[in-house]
Amino acid sequence: MPRSESRALIVGASRGIGAALVAEGRARGWDVIGTTRDGDPAVDVTDAASVAALPGRVGEVDLLVCNAGVYPDKGVDLDGTTDEMMRMAMEVNVVGVFAVVRAMRPCLRDGAKVAIVSSQMGISARPAPNAFAYRASKAAATNLAANLAVALAPKVAVGAFHPGWVRTDMGGSSAAVSPEESAKGLWDGFAALEPGLTGAGSGVIRSYDGTPLPF
Ligand SMILES: NC(=O)c1ccc[n+]([C@@H]2O[C@H](COP(=O)([O-])OP(=O)(O)OC[C@H]3O[C@@H](n4cnc5c(N)ncnc54)[C@H](OP(=O)(O)O)[C@@H]3O)[C@@H](O)[C@H]2O)c1
Repeated sequence: MPRSESRALIVGASRGIGAALVAEGRARGWDVIGTTRDGDPAVDVTDAASVAALPGRVGEVDLLVCNAGVYPDKGVDLDGTTDEMMRMAMEVNVVGVFAVVRAMRPCLRDGAKVAIVSSQMGISARPAPNAFAYRASKAAATNLAANLAVALAPKVAVGAFHPGWVRTDMGGSSAAVSPEESAKGLWDGFAALEPGLTGAGSGVIRSYDGTPLPF
């Protein structure tokens, strides 16, 4: 059981995995704030003003989860990939993640954890001939986690996570894992994060079931 004031911020919690992460955190006794693009606090990670306002709205936290993500080139091959798809993926999945962590840095308590919801599709050792924008953006998101883990140690632990193939708008109805099961595993993974790259999972991408994955 966390201390009573343990507080988590889940960015991108309107639906899917983010909404399940909010519910699971509350079930574990945490004070959880979930952001949506039109709620309170409202955060669009591509909007600098809304990201800048976040620390003032939220205050100090023990856990920050960067979950907001887009998959603009789902099912798209090399010929179908546009610059706009590439820009959108980078803007949300990379720039948005970094902007949120940078803005929230002063609000991270001693011993806080930062989790970046990335994807196994960003593993560079497993190339595939499709989804170029999404794969590149998630490779960069995992890379951000590794570098932030070094930058923020020993005060803060940082890790990247693959949530599984999850039944959400993004994952589709045939996906293998429910949002609830993914959220349970992810919360266990957040709890296991330790500062730096040598601790369990920190700076290394792990699956929601705890399996370490290659970069
Ligand atoms: N589902 C999977 O199988 C799977 C697998 C690997 C990784 N992931 C990753 O897991 C995360 C959550 O995925 P999901 O399946 O739950 O996707 P989803 O159902 O499509 O939900 C995406 C969430 O991100 C939010 N979002 C998108 N753009 C945003 C922006 N500019 N600012 C703020 N919020 C924004 C959405 O808010 P709105 O409702 O306002 O659009 C929504 O809450 C993503 O990072 C995704 O890449 C998912």
